[in-house]
Amino acid sequence: MRILVLGGTMFLSRAVAADAVARGHDVTCAARGESGSVPDGARHVVLDREAPDWSGLEGEWDAVVDVARTPSWVANALDHLADAHWTFVSTISVYADHATPGGTPETLPLLPPITEDVEQDTAEKYGSSKVACEQDVQARAREALIVRPGLIIGPGDPSGRFSYWPERLAEGGDVLAPESPDRDTQAIDVRDLAAWIVTCAEKRLTGVYDASGAVQRLGDLVDQVAAAVGGDAQVVWAPADFLLEREVTYWAGPRSLPLWLPEDARGMTSHDVSASFAAGLSTRPIGETAVDTLAWLRENPDAHRTGLSRAEEQDLLDDWYVVRG
Ligand SMILES: NC(=O)c1ccc[n+]([C@@H]2O[C@H](COP(=O)([O-])OP(=O)(O)OC[C@H]3O[C@@H](n4cnc5c(N)ncnc54)[C@H](OP(=O)(O)O)[C@@H]3O)[C@@H](O)[C@H]2O)c1
Repeated sequence: MRILVLGGTMFLSRAVAADAVARGHDVTCAARGESGSVPDGARHVVLDREAPDWSGLEGEWDAVVDVARTPSWVANALDHLADAHWTFVSTISVYADHATPGGTPETLPLLPPITEDVEQDTAEKYGSSKVACEQDVQARAREALIVRPGLIIGPGDPSGRFSYWPERLAEGGDVLAPESPDRDTQAIDVRDLAAWIVTCAEKRLTGVYDASGAVQRLGDLVDQVAAAVGGDAQVVWAPADFLLEREVTYWAGPRSLPLWLPEDARGMTSHDVSASFAAGLSTRPIGETAVDTLAWLRENPDAHRTGLSRAEEQDLLDDWYVVRG
Protein backbone atom coordinates (compact mmCIF):
# COMPACT_ATOMS: atom_id res chain seq x y z
CA MET A 1 0.00 0.00 0.00
CA ARG A 2 1.02 3.63 -0.51
CA ILE A 3 0.64 5.17 2.93
CA LEU A 4 0.99 8.86 3.73
CA VAL A 5 1.63 9.74 7.35
CA LEU A 6 1.02 13.40 8.15
CA GLY A 7 3.68 13.61 10.84
CA GLY A 8 6.08 10.70 11.25
CA THR A 9 8.94 12.43 13.04
CA MET A 10 7.98 11.65 16.64
CA PHE A 11 6.21 9.21 18.96
CA LEU A 12 2.91 7.82 17.62
CA SER A 13 3.00 9.01 14.02
CA ARG A 14 6.65 7.89 13.76
CA ALA A 15 5.73 4.49 15.20
CA VAL A 16 2.93 4.19 12.63
CA ALA A 17 5.39 4.93 9.83
CA ALA A 18 7.97 2.47 11.26
CA ASP A 19 5.39 -0.30 11.56
CA ALA A 20 4.12 0.26 8.04
CA VAL A 21 7.68 0.19 6.65
CA ALA A 22 8.36 -3.06 8.54
CA ARG A 23 5.32 -4.61 6.84
CA GLY A 24 6.66 -3.68 3.42
CA HIS A 25 4.40 -0.76 2.64
CA ASP A 26 5.50 2.25 0.61
CA VAL A 27 5.54 4.96 3.30
CA THR A 28 5.85 8.72 2.98
CA CYS A 29 5.98 11.06 5.97
CA ALA A 30 5.03 14.70 5.53
CA ALA A 31 6.30 16.99 8.28
CA ARG A 32 8.72 19.86 8.81
CA GLY A 33 11.35 17.57 10.29
CA GLU A 34 11.70 19.73 13.41
CA SER A 35 10.60 17.08 15.89
CA GLY A 36 12.99 14.40 14.68
CA SER A 37 13.73 12.18 11.72
CA VAL A 38 11.41 9.83 9.87
CA PRO A 39 12.08 6.10 10.34
CA ASP A 40 14.54 4.30 8.09
CA GLY A 41 12.82 3.14 4.93
CA ALA A 42 10.23 5.94 4.86
CA ARG A 43 10.41 8.87 2.45
CA HIS A 44 10.36 12.35 4.01
CA VAL A 45 8.58 15.18 2.23
CA VAL A 46 9.01 18.52 3.96
CA LEU A 47 5.60 20.03 4.70
CA ASP A 48 4.73 22.94 6.97
CA ARG A 49 1.03 22.81 7.65
CA GLU A 50 0.99 26.46 8.65
CA ALA A 51 1.73 27.23 4.97
CA PRO A 52 1.30 23.90 3.18
CA ASP A 53 2.69 23.23 -0.26
CA TRP A 54 1.29 19.88 -1.40
CA SER A 55 3.27 19.73 -4.64
CA GLY A 56 5.56 16.92 -3.42
CA LEU A 57 2.59 14.84 -2.34
CA GLU A 58 0.59 14.48 -5.50
CA GLY A 59 -0.57 11.11 -6.70
CA GLU A 60 -2.74 8.42 -5.32
CA TRP A 61 -2.63 7.29 -1.70
CA ASP A 62 -4.25 4.13 -0.44
CA ALA A 63 -4.20 5.38 3.11
CA VAL A 64 -3.59 8.61 5.01
CA VAL A 65 -2.89 8.79 8.75
CA ASP A 66 -3.22 12.19 10.40
CA VAL A 67 -2.48 13.15 14.02
CA ALA A 68 -3.20 16.88 13.74
CA ARG A 69 -4.98 18.94 16.39
CA THR A 70 -5.74 22.05 14.30
CA PRO A 71 -9.00 22.12 12.29
CA SER A 72 -7.63 24.18 9.39
CA TRP A 73 -4.70 21.77 8.97
CA VAL A 74 -7.09 18.85 8.62
CA ALA A 75 -9.43 20.78 6.31
CA ASN A 76 -6.54 21.73 4.07
CA ALA A 77 -5.22 18.17 3.94
CA LEU A 78 -8.69 16.91 3.04
CA ASP A 79 -8.84 19.43 0.17
CA HIS A 80 -5.91 17.52 -1.35
CA LEU A 81 -6.05 13.98 0.01
CA ALA A 82 -9.68 13.02 0.69
CA ASP A 83 -9.71 10.24 -1.90
CA ALA A 84 -8.11 7.66 0.39
CA HIS A 85 -8.73 5.61 3.50
CA TRP A 86 -8.19 8.17 6.27
CA THR A 87 -7.27 7.35 9.83
CA PHE A 88 -7.67 10.38 12.01
CA VAL A 89 -5.95 9.95 15.37
CA SER A 90 -8.16 11.77 17.82
CA THR A 91 -8.35 11.43 21.61
CA ILE A 92 -10.70 10.46 24.44
CA SER A 93 -10.53 14.17 25.35
CA VAL A 94 -13.34 14.62 22.79
CA TYR A 95 -15.81 13.34 25.39
CA ALA A 96 -17.89 15.67 27.54
CA ASP A 97 -18.22 12.98 30.22
CA HIS A 98 -15.09 11.77 31.99
CA ALA A 99 -16.88 10.52 35.08
CA THR A 100 -18.83 7.51 33.82
CA PRO A 101 -16.79 4.29 33.76
CA GLY A 102 -17.16 1.77 30.95
CA GLY A 103 -17.97 4.34 28.26
CA THR A 104 -17.79 3.74 24.52
CA PRO A 105 -18.13 6.00 21.47
CA GLU A 106 -21.77 4.95 21.36
CA THR A 107 -22.57 5.88 24.97
CA LEU A 108 -20.50 8.98 25.76
CA PRO A 109 -21.51 12.53 24.73
CA LEU A 110 -19.06 14.65 22.73
CA LEU A 111 -17.91 18.17 23.45
CA PRO A 112 -19.22 20.75 20.99
CA PRO A 113 -16.86 21.20 18.02
CA ILE A 114 -14.65 24.29 17.70
CA THR A 115 -14.13 24.66 13.96
CA GLU A 116 -11.86 27.70 14.00
CA ASP A 117 -8.21 27.41 15.05
CA VAL A 118 -7.90 28.44 18.69
CA GLU A 119 -5.17 28.30 21.28
CA GLN A 120 -5.69 24.89 22.90
CA ASP A 121 -4.88 26.01 26.42
CA THR A 122 -7.47 23.79 28.10
CA ALA A 123 -8.35 20.11 27.76
CA GLU A 124 -11.82 21.18 26.56
CA LYS A 125 -10.46 23.35 23.73
CA TYR A 126 -8.14 20.52 22.68
CA GLY A 127 -11.05 18.06 22.75
CA SER A 128 -13.44 20.38 20.93
CA SER A 129 -10.85 21.08 18.22
CA LYS A 130 -10.38 17.35 17.76
CA VAL A 131 -14.17 16.94 17.47
CA ALA A 132 -14.17 19.45 14.62
CA CYS A 133 -11.29 17.62 12.91
CA GLU A 134 -13.10 14.29 13.30
CA GLN A 135 -16.31 15.64 11.81
CA ASP A 136 -14.50 17.07 8.80
CA VAL A 137 -12.77 13.73 8.14
CA GLN A 138 -16.06 11.85 8.51
CA ALA A 139 -17.82 14.23 6.12
CA ARG A 140 -15.19 14.29 3.40
CA ALA A 141 -12.80 11.34 3.40
CA ARG A 142 -13.59 8.46 1.07
CA GLU A 143 -13.34 6.05 4.03
CA ALA A 144 -13.00 7.45 7.53
CA LEU A 145 -11.64 5.76 10.63
CA ILE A 146 -11.58 7.75 13.86
CA VAL A 147 -9.27 6.36 16.54
CA ARG A 148 -9.59 7.90 20.01
CA PRO A 149 -6.64 6.82 22.17
CA GLY A 150 -6.40 7.07 25.90
CA LEU A 151 -2.98 7.54 27.50
CA ILE A 152 -0.25 6.51 25.04
CA ILE A 153 2.91 5.21 26.69
CA GLY A 154 6.26 3.68 25.83
CA PRO A 155 9.62 4.57 24.30
CA GLY A 156 9.68 8.08 22.85
CA ASP A 157 6.85 9.40 25.06
CA PRO A 158 7.24 13.19 25.09
CA SER A 159 4.96 13.61 28.13
CA GLY A 160 6.86 11.56 30.72
CA ARG A 161 3.69 10.49 32.56
CA PHE A 162 3.98 6.70 32.53
CA SER A 163 7.78 7.02 32.29
CA TYR A 164 7.88 8.34 35.87
CA TRP A 165 6.97 4.90 37.22
CA PRO A 166 9.58 2.59 35.62
CA GLU A 167 12.31 5.13 36.34
CA ARG A 168 11.26 5.71 39.94
CA LEU A 169 10.51 2.05 40.73
CA ALA A 170 13.86 0.95 39.29
CA GLU A 171 15.63 3.30 41.73
CA GLY A 172 14.06 1.32 44.57
CA GLY A 173 13.52 2.16 48.24
CA ASP A 174 10.20 3.52 49.50
CA VAL A 175 8.17 4.81 46.55
CA LEU A 176 5.26 7.16 47.20
CA ALA A 177 2.09 6.21 45.31
CA PRO A 178 -1.26 8.00 45.13
CA GLU A 179 -4.43 7.22 47.02
CA SER A 180 -5.18 3.54 46.50
CA PRO A 181 -3.98 0.51 44.56
CA ASP A 182 -7.65 -0.14 43.75
CA ARG A 183 -8.06 2.87 41.46
CA ASP A 184 -8.44 2.03 37.77
CA THR A 185 -5.83 2.85 35.17
CA GLN A 186 -5.65 2.30 31.41
CA ALA A 187 -2.97 2.97 28.80
CA ILE A 188 -1.68 1.69 25.49
CA ASP A 189 1.86 1.06 24.28
CA VAL A 190 2.61 3.35 21.34
CA ARG A 191 3.83 0.39 19.27
CA ASP A 192 0.64 -1.60 19.83
CA LEU A 193 -1.49 1.38 18.86
CA ALA A 194 0.65 2.03 15.78
CA ALA A 195 0.42 -1.61 14.69
CA TRP A 196 -3.34 -1.57 15.04
CA ILE A 197 -3.63 1.65 13.03
CA VAL A 198 -1.67 0.04 10.19
CA THR A 199 -3.81 -3.11 10.41
CA CYS A 200 -6.96 -0.98 10.22
CA ALA A 201 -5.65 0.79 7.12
CA GLU A 202 -4.87 -2.57 5.53
CA LYS A 203 -8.39 -3.79 6.28
CA ARG A 204 -9.91 -0.40 5.36
CA LEU A 205 -11.76 -0.39 8.63
CA THR A 206 -14.14 2.55 9.11
CA GLY A 207 -16.04 3.86 12.11
CA VAL A 208 -15.13 5.27 15.51
CA TYR A 209 -13.11 3.40 18.13
CA ASP A 210 -11.59 4.17 21.50
CA ALA A 211 -8.10 2.72 21.66
CA SER A 212 -6.48 1.73 24.91
CA GLY A 213 -5.32 -1.29 26.82
CA ALA A 214 -7.43 -3.26 29.23
CA VAL A 215 -8.52 -1.53 32.43
CA GLN A 216 -6.34 -2.55 35.36
CA ARG A 217 -5.85 -1.62 39.00
CA LEU A 218 -3.23 1.05 39.53
CA GLY A 219 -1.70 -1.25 42.13
CA ASP A 220 -1.35 -4.03 39.57
CA LEU A 221 0.31 -1.68 37.09
CA VAL A 222 2.79 -0.51 39.74
CA ASP A 223 3.50 -4.10 40.83
CA GLN A 224 4.02 -5.31 37.26
CA VAL A 225 6.29 -2.38 36.42
CA ALA A 226 8.30 -2.91 39.62
CA ALA A 227 8.70 -6.62 38.91
CA ALA A 228 9.80 -5.95 35.34
CA VAL A 229 12.40 -3.25 36.09
CA GLY A 230 13.81 -5.03 39.17
CA GLY A 231 15.14 -3.39 42.31
CA ASP A 232 13.90 -3.31 45.88
CA ALA A 233 11.03 -0.80 45.64
CA GLN A 234 8.50 -0.80 48.47
CA VAL A 235 5.35 1.03 47.44
CA VAL A 236 3.82 3.35 50.05
CA TRP A 237 0.24 4.44 49.30
CA ALA A 238 -0.75 7.78 50.80
CA PRO A 239 -4.38 8.92 50.83
CA ALA A 240 -5.76 11.66 48.61
CA ASP A 241 -6.46 14.19 51.37
CA PHE A 242 -2.88 13.87 52.66
CA LEU A 243 -1.50 14.50 49.16
CA LEU A 244 -3.89 17.30 48.22
CA GLU A 245 -3.26 19.15 51.52
CA ARG A 246 0.42 19.18 50.53
CA GLU A 247 -0.34 20.45 47.02
CA VAL A 248 0.52 17.27 45.17
CA THR A 249 -1.33 17.44 41.86
CA TYR A 250 -3.01 14.89 39.66
CA TRP A 251 -1.85 13.30 36.41
CA ALA A 252 1.18 15.31 35.22
CA GLY A 253 3.29 18.40 35.76
CA PRO A 254 5.44 19.76 38.58
CA ARG A 255 4.72 18.24 42.01
CA SER A 256 2.36 15.65 40.48
CA LEU A 257 2.01 11.95 40.96
CA PRO A 258 1.66 10.84 37.33
CA LEU A 259 -1.36 8.72 36.32
CA TRP A 260 -3.28 9.77 39.46
CA LEU A 261 -6.74 11.14 38.60
CA PRO A 262 -9.55 12.59 40.69
CA GLU A 263 -12.59 10.44 41.37
CA ASP A 264 -14.76 12.47 38.97
CA ALA A 265 -12.37 11.64 36.09
CA ARG A 266 -12.38 7.89 36.62
CA GLY A 267 -14.16 7.34 33.29
CA MET A 268 -10.97 8.47 31.51
CA THR A 269 -9.19 5.31 32.59
CA SER A 270 -12.00 2.82 32.30
CA HIS A 271 -13.20 2.92 28.70
CA ASP A 272 -14.76 -0.25 27.35
CA VAL A 273 -12.43 -1.01 24.44
CA SER A 274 -13.77 -4.48 23.63
CA ALA A 275 -14.81 -3.29 20.16
CA SER A 276 -11.21 -2.31 19.36
CA PHE A 277 -9.90 -5.68 20.53
CA ALA A 278 -12.58 -7.37 18.42
CA ALA A 279 -11.31 -5.30 15.49
CA GLY A 280 -7.75 -6.60 15.85
CA LEU A 281 -6.11 -4.52 18.58
CA SER A 282 -3.72 -6.49 20.73
CA THR A 283 -1.53 -5.23 23.56
CA ARG A 284 1.71 -6.34 25.14
CA PRO A 285 2.24 -6.79 28.90
CA ILE A 286 2.83 -3.53 30.77
CA GLY A 287 6.14 -4.92 32.10
CA GLU A 288 7.52 -5.07 28.56
CA THR A 289 6.52 -1.44 27.99
CA ALA A 290 8.19 -0.52 31.29
CA VAL A 291 11.51 -2.20 30.45
CA ASP A 292 11.64 -0.63 26.99
CA THR A 293 10.67 2.79 28.33
CA LEU A 294 13.38 2.63 30.96
CA ALA A 295 15.97 1.65 28.35
CA TRP A 296 14.88 4.58 26.19
CA LEU A 297 15.06 6.99 29.16
CA ARG A 298 18.59 5.82 29.91
CA GLU A 299 19.61 6.36 26.30
CA ASN A 300 17.91 9.78 26.32
CA PRO A 301 18.80 11.52 29.59
CA ASP A 302 17.36 14.79 28.30
CA ALA A 303 13.91 13.27 27.59
CA HIS A 304 11.10 15.17 29.28
CA ARG A 305 10.35 14.06 32.83
CA THR A 306 7.31 14.89 34.91
CA GLY A 307 6.15 14.20 38.44
CA LEU A 308 7.63 14.68 41.90
CA SER A 309 11.30 15.44 42.26
CA ARG A 310 13.12 12.98 44.50
CA ALA A 311 13.49 15.67 47.18
CA GLU A 312 9.76 16.43 47.08
CA GLU A 313 8.94 12.75 47.32
CA GLN A 314 11.29 12.24 50.30
CA ASP A 315 9.76 15.20 52.18
CA LEU A 316 6.28 13.79 51.58
CA LEU A 317 7.32 10.30 52.67
CA ASP A 318 8.92 11.67 55.86
CA ASP A 319 5.72 13.57 56.59
CA TRP A 320 3.54 10.53 55.89
CA TYR A 321 5.53 8.28 58.23
CA VAL A 322 4.76 10.79 61.04
CA VAL A 323 1.06 11.17 60.11
CA ARG A 324 0.36 7.46 59.81
CA GLY A 325 2.29 6.79 63.04
N1 LIG B 1 0.14 11.26 24.12
C1 LIG B 1 -1.02 10.79 24.52
O1 LIG B 1 -1.14 10.19 25.60
C2 LIG B 1 -2.23 10.94 23.61
C3 LIG B 1 -3.48 10.55 24.11
C4 LIG B 1 -4.59 10.61 23.24
C5 LIG B 1 -4.43 11.06 21.96
N2 LIG B 1 -3.21 11.47 21.51
C6 LIG B 1 -3.07 11.86 20.11
O2 LIG B 1 -2.08 11.02 19.56
C7 LIG B 1 -1.39 11.71 18.53
C8 LIG B 1 0.10 11.74 18.85
O3 LIG B 1 0.78 12.05 17.66
P1 LIG B 1 2.37 12.18 17.61
O4 LIG B 1 2.97 11.26 18.58
O5 LIG B 1 2.82 12.16 16.21
O6 LIG B 1 2.65 13.63 18.19
P2 LIG B 1 2.00 15.03 17.83
O7 LIG B 1 2.67 16.01 18.74
O8 LIG B 1 0.54 15.00 17.89
O9 LIG B 1 2.40 15.28 16.28
C9 LIG B 1 3.65 15.53 15.99
C10 LIG B 1 3.84 15.46 14.49
O10 LIG B 1 3.21 16.60 13.90
C11 LIG B 1 4.19 17.23 13.08
N3 LIG B 1 3.98 18.67 13.00
C12 LIG B 1 3.96 19.54 14.04
N4 LIG B 1 3.83 20.80 13.56
C13 LIG B 1 3.80 20.70 12.20
C14 LIG B 1 3.67 21.64 11.13
N5 LIG B 1 3.58 22.97 11.35
N6 LIG B 1 3.66 21.17 9.86
C15 LIG B 1 3.76 19.85 9.62
N7 LIG B 1 3.86 18.92 10.56
C16 LIG B 1 3.89 19.33 11.86
C17 LIG B 1 5.50 16.91 13.75
O11 LIG B 1 6.54 16.97 12.79
P3 LIG B 1 7.60 18.18 12.71
O12 LIG B 1 7.63 18.87 14.03
O13 LIG B 1 8.87 17.46 12.39
O14 LIG B 1 7.09 19.05 11.63
C18 LIG B 1 5.29 15.48 14.23
O15 LIG B 1 5.66 14.53 13.25
C19 LIG B 1 -2.01 13.08 18.45
O16 LIG B 1 -3.07 13.03 17.52
C20 LIG B 1 -2.60 13.27 19.84
O17 LIG B 1 -3.67 14.19 19.84
C21 LIG B 1 -2.11 11.43 22.32
